[in-house]
Amino acid sequence: ERGGFDHFMQKEIYEQPQAIRDTLGGRIDENGNVDIRAELTFSDRNVCDIDRVHIVACGTASYAGMVGKGLLEQLVRVPVEWDIASEYRYKGPIFTENTLVIVVSQSGETADTLAALREAQRNGARVLAITNVVGSSIAREADDVLYTWAGPEIAVASTKAYTSQLIAFYLIALHFARVRGALPQEQLRALAVQLRQLPEQAERLLAQAGKLREMARKIARHAHVFYIGRGLDYAVSLEGSLKLKEISYIHSEAYAAGELKHGTLALIEEGTPVIALATQRALFGKTLSNVKEVKARGAYVIGLRTEGNGELDSSVDDLLEIPDVHPLLTPPLSVVLLQLLAYYTAVLRGNDVDKPRNLAKSVTVE
Ligand code: M6R
Repeated sequence: ERGGFDHFMQKEIYEQPQAIRDTLGGRIDENGNVDIRAELTFSDRNVCDIDRVHIVACGTASYAGMVGKGLLEQLVRVPVEWDIASEYRYKGPIFTENTLVIVVSQSGETADTLAALREAQRNGARVLAITNVVGSSIAREADDVLYTWAGPEIAVASTKAYTSQLIAFYLIALHFARVRGALPQEQLRALAVQLRQLPEQAERLLAQAGKLREMARKIARHAHVFYIGRGLDYAVSLEGSLKLKEISYIHSEAYAAGELKHGTLALIEEGTPVIALATQRALFGKTLSNVKEVKARGAYVIGLRTEGNGELDSSVDDLLEIPDVHPLLTPPLSVVLLQLLAYYTAVLRGNDVDKPRNLAKSVTVE
């Protein structure tokens, strides 16, 4: 049932090109027009009226939501608040007349996310759910659902659900941006056309597995690992770091790269692994200076950039590359490499990769 793979997690990492393809489905035509109108109850008027978005989820789904926040802010220019579901309910969220709440959940059964959904509805907000399970509690109770079509995810560590959730956010952001005229149609179409190339690009990244296994050897014996990045790279760093700690049991933290010098830099010692994501062209120079800061303190640095962009070679110990895509499209590609790194590290440490200690696949307690 693992289809020749050693673990479900590995199989699910390799299923990502298909999960992305299925989630894009018939939702973009070959000219780059995104249309998800038929799946939503929103009129174009409703879409135009949205004046605030809350994105609420737990764990990996929340990190997909953090990328979603960046996409909605940059493409739709709508203010977005992002919250962890277990915090959202108790903080007294502030709703406007036209607040849209987007909840994200692979299983559709996470208790805190379901409670957040109910809290939002009690306050009169419209709730759009991004979920992977048809007929789940969240799918049934939400006002609208945009399904991810990742297929069943068995491993506790979420992989293909995350990439599919990112795709759902691209679709929502492009659809909203088009309806609201937030950006020139040409620009949106060009992005959508690139989106359709992601499955093949993700496929090609899987060929780097051997390289990631080698890098895993270098980090497997360490007690602490740091991930740094700016903008969308920071959001992906959080997910990469969660993946590593969840299955390898190595302590790891993700930091907005510019924040290191405000405290965390004190933890960098000779040999401390730092994974530096530098795929955001506009921020490259800034991230590079943060790479140099950790390098100067003796860190072992793995740099990740888009092919050929930015001079990193002389400042890092190992280099990873993803295809040269638009900066908004790097997260679903970068994450594949981080998932492989976490996977091989956990395997090397002899852990139960699919069923990490203390964790459950679906968290139905609050
Ligand atoms: O089913 P959900 O997407 O609501 O689950 C949310 C989290 O429990 C989940 O993403 C968790 O963080 C994963 N184990 C991370 O790999």
